[in-house]
Amino acid sequence: MKIKKLITAFAAFFFTAACIQAQSDDLAKLNEWVKFWKERQQTYFGYPVNECSTLSDFYKWYTSTGMDVVNLNNAGNPMADEPFAMSSHVFEKEVIEFFAPYYGYDLDNVWGIVTHSGTDGNNHGIYFGSNYLKNKTKLRPVMYVSDEAHYSNMRLADLQNLDLKIIKSDDMGRMIPEEFEKALDTSRPALVVYAMGSTFKGAIDDMNAINAVLNRHPELPGVYRHVDAALFGGYLPFTEYRYMVSHKIMNFESIAISGHKFFGIDSPSGLFFCTNDIYENQVNFNVTYLNGNMRMISCSRDAVQPLKFWWLIHHNGLETWTKQAQQMMECAAYLKSQLKAMGYPCWQNEYSNTVFFKRPSQALVEKYTLAQGYDERFGGELAHIVVMQHVTKEKIDKFLSELKKEWKAQQKAAA
Ligand SMILES: Cc1ncc(COP(=O)(O)O)c(C=O)c1O
Repeated sequence: MKIKKLITAFAAFFFTAACIQAQSDDLAKLNEWVKFWKERQQTYFGYPVNECSTLSDFYKWYTSTGMDVVNLNNAGNPMADEPFAMSSHVFEKEVIEFFAPYYGYDLDNVWGIVTHSGTDGNNHGIYFGSNYLKNKTKLRPVMYVSDEAHYSNMRLADLQNLDLKIIKSDDMGRMIPEEFEKALDTSRPALVVYAMGSTFKGAIDDMNAINAVLNRHPELPGVYRHVDAALFGGYLPFTEYRYMVSHKIMNFESIAISGHKFFGIDSPSGLFFCTNDIYENQVNFNVTYLNGNMRMISCSRDAVQPLKFWWLIHHNGLETWTKQAQQMMECAAYLKSQLKAMGYPCWQNEYSNTVFFKRPSQALVEKYTLAQGYDERFGGELAHIVVMQHVTKEKIDKFLSELKKEWKAQQKAAA
């Protein structure tokens, strides 16, 4: 009997020791991975992500209050009078109402949600636009988007089974209004997606010129314009170019913005806005156990992201975002001017924090996580830097000094 107990005790001891060892191995693996990303974060130049996230205090609050063991879900309409039980709808509504005026929407005529991502916002824009036009005209729309717009728009047109016309863009990446006019099918409603920051070159479609084309065709049965402002919609409201993202001034119906880009939310999220008229002309699903006619695409929606947005509004807000936007614009201009001074081929669109240039060596591309592109019109192989909050002047100088060495050696070899 004694021997049996001894064996059991030994087995328990070895099992516990093995578990502790496995746990510390797991932890070591995770910590190693964190170390790697902390280093890479400093030179993460090629993608539109704010690596100066300021959510540490949010996480402290979240865990210290025990929110980490409360499972919330924002299924339902955050703008409804009655928030859904066990949701953060109250905060989501405040987030939408805080941002609405920055995108030119009046508080008594706005509907919006915190989305899962920029793509989710585009999905709503395209779906709402298509349903709105069908409801108003009883005709299926044709969707138009430039060939330099983010691929999510083409994917979503496919997913939503829409007839899509991809319009040629000019060298700098803007949809060509004359090409749009040529492609316009005036017998069917037009659902136009404006690229507000094409992904590689950072071009903004000329909304005034495209609106002028639409105005020249009063025979069009209906028009809906959605703005894909994933990155630019974050910082433009805090610059002198804020009118560019105003629904009232630029005459668009809906707009989508990413939360993890300029705003620095640490995982995918976003914002979507439209007017009440658009929201009222959607397909309803009356779900009695939720708080109203379900018109948004997903049922379950994240309840934590609205809290993070709310936190940032109260801890960053207008002042911090204005400073950050200004720093980004200044640093982007600095990068471009320094490249030019070196005689290094480079380009930048107006209003853009993206500078694209002749692609450097693979070593530099990797070290600085540069995004790569290709365009014969600019000599072929290209790369870009998206100047976000963490891409400071000091880091730009370091990159430039490394690039200069390469460039000089190349020029010497060519001479
Ligand atoms: C212009 C544009 N639209 C849409 C997206 C997709 O946004 P998300 O990654 O938030 O889904 C991106 C992402 O980089 C983008 O640059």
